[in-house]
Amino acid sequence: MKNKKFYITTPIYYPSGQPHMGHAYSSIIADVIARFKRNDNYDVHFLTGTDEHGLKIQKAASKAGLKPLEYCNKISDIFRQLNVKLNLSNDDFIRTTEKRHFNSVQHLWKQLVDSGDIYLSKYKGWYSVSDEAYYNSDEIVEKNGKKISTFSGSLVEWVEEESFFFKLSAWEDKLLEFYEKNKKFIIPVSRRNEVINFVKSGLKDLSISRTSFTWGIKVPNNEKHVIYVWLDALTNYLSALNYPNLNNDLYKKFWPASLHVIGKDILRFHAIYWPAFLLAANIEPPVKIFSHGWILSGEEKMSKSKGNILNPLEIIDIYGIDETRYYLMKEVSHGSDGNISLKSLENCINSDLANNYGNLCQRVFSFIKNNCANNVEAYKDKLDSDQKIINETKNIIGELRNLMEEQNINSYIKSVINISFLTNKYINDEEPWKLKSSNVKRMNNILHLALEQIAKISILLNPIIPISTSKVLDALNVKKSNRNLSFLDGENILSEKISIAPLNILFKKIT
Ligand code: ME8
Ligand code: MG
Repeated sequence: MKNKKFYITTPIYYPSGQPHMGHAYSSIIADVIARFKRNDNYDVHFLTGTDEHGLKIQKAASKAGLKPLEYCNKISDIFRQLNVKLNLSNDDFIRTTEKRHFNSVQHLWKQLVDSGDIYLSKYKGWYSVSDEAYYNSDEIVEKNGKKISTFSGSLVEWVEEESFFFKLSAWEDKLLEFYEKNKKFIIPVSRRNEVINFVKSGLKDLSISRTSFTWGIKVPNNEKHVIYVWLDALTNYLSALNYPNLNNDLYKKFWPASLHVIGKDILRFHAIYWPAFLLAANIEPPVKIFSHGWILSGEEKMSKSKGNILNPLEIIDIYGIDETRYYLMKEVSHGSDGNISLKSLENCINSDLANNYGNLCQRVFSFIKNNCANNVEAYKDKLDSDQKIINETKNIIGELRNLMEEQNINSYIKSVINISFLTNKYINDEEPWKLKSSNVKRMNNILHLALEQIAKISILLNPIIPISTSKVLDALNVKKSNRNLSFLDGENILSEKISIAPLNILFKKIT
């Protein structure tokens, strides 16, 4: 019986334009963590989807000459197809235009009314349609005669209309208390500090309904107001577990969410508004929010509104999905922005995948095919050099769960690829090709140990490059049920006597 549960989510994306590398990046992070947790014997629920209400979408639809829902059907489907291309292992895909979500949002609204956290008044202030966000006056500057948000650089407009408000100001102290009690609620620490400072500087009540357009979920028993798209969107994490049905298996099993993976652009919504809504509705907030940096193209954030997008579909078609996933996960440091380019993508594929891990697998498999008829047997006697690489590997893998626990995927990958480097070096030093006639037993020992290393590296890299590592594990005849991380606690993966199957080239070197 699995008793370890893990509920992980991506942001639900606006279908206001085509998906790009930034979306792919968030989704791949979540997928890598989901796969790692499954391999580590957790019961995982992995959710992604599209965020389809609000003025931004209403405008995009009208620009495309379509009804909002028709428009969303079309673009949401493109996001779904991208997920297949990205090889995401999501268990569910939610659309905020689904009935399950309507019910959930309206129910949460009623909870907030019942708790006394909602009142009717008038909103007067700045609003960015592109961010679907309200900004304070001190967050606005004028540039070339236009008012923009200092935070995102997007255009803002002055809004004055009747609106329901959420008493966010009343939750200031409780939020600070919550952050204090839950030190790992916001990762990385720099982002946590940002949020705490923002809350300490004072929270204003939040406008949570609009009357000047119609594309959204109606306020219960009120035809005039639609619910603010961020209150609507955040609730997706609950709707997908069949909230408000608290007795539903999914909800009982998976709430509170273990991890929301998001970009730093939407930290305020997830780290301030979301826990405030939940605390007010007497629902436990999520365990953790990981806020990653931006994928940059040149110096700018890659974004639909800026039109500087690298099309992930094209990149995947040219370089392959494992290669693209590996590159994005390796290239960008934990929580930081990352510049991506075709040149560094090609370098990364060559140095890590083709020359290091790929080469390790290929050279060992073809040597065994040519010299041992695909059969290898291990003998008890270990030399110091064997023990050395075994110990070095043990030291490295001892840290890996922690790195993944901190969402530090790039450091995790560097550690694993280092094991591959050390294993290549071990083979170079031991020179099994010189032992073909002189010491077949020793030669077998070296090769067996090399295969054991390859099995470990493959299982460790499996969350990042699932397709290639599965080919290796298939060729090693490792049973599916043994492809898990229990070896991190000290066991071996392969038996003493093994037969391998042929292995085709894994990664083409780019010249
Ligand atoms: O904000 N680099 O949707 P969105 C890295 N619907 N990540 C990027 C990125 C970039 N250049 N561009 C986008 C929304 N992302 C809301 C979310 S959640 C309840 C509602 C990723 O389509 C990143 O995760 O604008 C960012 O937070 C998200 O896409 C925003 O996607
Ligand atoms: Mg955005």
